[in-house]
Amino acid sequence: MRAPLRALTLAAAAGGAALGYSSILERNWFALRQAEVPVLAAGTEPLRVLHLSDIHLTPGRHRLLSWLRSLDALAPDLVVNTGDSIAHEQAVQPLLEALGPLLDRPGVFVFGSNDLYSPIPANPLRYLWDTSTKKHSRHVPDLPWAELGAGMAAAGWMDANNARGRVKAGRLDVEVGGVHDSHIRRDRYEEIAGPADPTADLRLGVMHSPEPQIMDLFAADGYDLLLAGHTHGGQVRVPGYGTLVTNCGIEPERASGLHRHPAEGAPDRPWLHVSAGLGTSPWAPFRFACRPEATLLTLVPRIG
Ligand SMILES: [Fe+2]
Repeated sequence: MRAPLRALTLAAAAGGAALGYSSILERNWFALRQAEVPVLAAGTEPLRVLHLSDIHLTPGRHRLLSWLRSLDALAPDLVVNTGDSIAHEQAVQPLLEALGPLLDRPGVFVFGSNDLYSPIPANPLRYLWDTSTKKHSRHVPDLPWAELGAGMAAAGWMDANNARGRVKAGRLDVEVGGVHDSHIRRDRYEEIAGPADPTADLRLGVMHSPEPQIMDLFAADGYDLLLAGHTHGGQVRVPGYGTLVTNCGIEPERASGLHRHPAEGAPDRPWLHVSAGLGTSPWAPFRFACRPEATLLTLVPRIG
């Protein structure tokens, strides 16, 4: 075989292997990440928060469903779902069944655009130069987002889409403020605006997409901890380099994991956790160097 042909053959084989690995193996290689967040007042007992996001459930994802089902064994004090839970009209009941006993725990949810609108084919490379914010051309939801919300709310989870409320988690009194998804222009921060209650044990801000301008508002209102998803952690990372795209206003360095917002600033600025999420669009069914994840955050007293 001539050298150029051999190189082409090797490149094609490597590409095929990477595609197989990312779409079959890594996409189903779920990880539980854990992090400690020093965000509570001195003397407060720790609070275990399970952060779920971007499940993008379609029927038949049995490994994903059974992994979700296993998470109740973590015995979290609070579950927070930052949206994009479904990707199919028949996904609501399987999702609620998989959440199962987690629904009996205190919980909070917001929607992402994919809870309302069914997935459509898109060139994933476009995220290299743009986000999905300006691309939304559909205006009539075609997924059963209301059924999904009703299922979680019926179990007692707080619907935090443009809403504020109080949740008792463990022994703590948590003030929650949340917004709907800004990528479909349903975020209405003005409906929840105002200083967060300083007498609560924790002030928690929840949103689907970690847009800096929304997080600035939460920070100005005195929230302690912000939770978001949406980025999929970039979904495809370059080993040794990291995340290429976030599909929103946040920079790649904070596309997933625990950071502060703003990235630089006063020592009492909020903590920010962005989940890389558990799923993918069915039209881009791969993850590379970016395992699907849920996160158990243990909130502990502030240092010093
Ligand atoms: Fe998503």
